Amino acid sequence: MSAQPLCHLHELANPGSREVKIADESFLVVRRGQALFAYRNRCPHTGAPLNLMPNRFLDYDRQYIQCSTHGALFQIESGKCIAGPCAGQYLESMPCHIENGALHLEET
Ligand code: FES
Repeated sequence: MSAQPLCHLHELANPGSREVKIADESFLVVRRGQALFAYRNRCPHTGAPLNLMPNRFLDYDRQYIQCSTHGALFQIESGKCIAGPCAGQYLESMPCHIENGALHLEET
């Protein structure tokens, strides 16, 4: 996968999230402060996309990533599920870095 910007910091609320599609693959990007986190949009419980609504990945208090299907909660920074049917499992983190305010996936 080539390095390409997924999104810019200023495009996201703080905290906030959005979906990015690259070559038919769906990713979610979450902002907290000046940090951005990227994960593959796939719940470890069933493999379903995490969101039902466009760009809605966070819980009501915007403290956790929440799966819309069965409500599993994931830590924003680590992707670890801390409540729900897949507790202890992780979202698939996408290696990335911030450059000039934009989030880029690492080349693999
Ligand atoms: S599909 Fe995500 S918690 Fe069940």
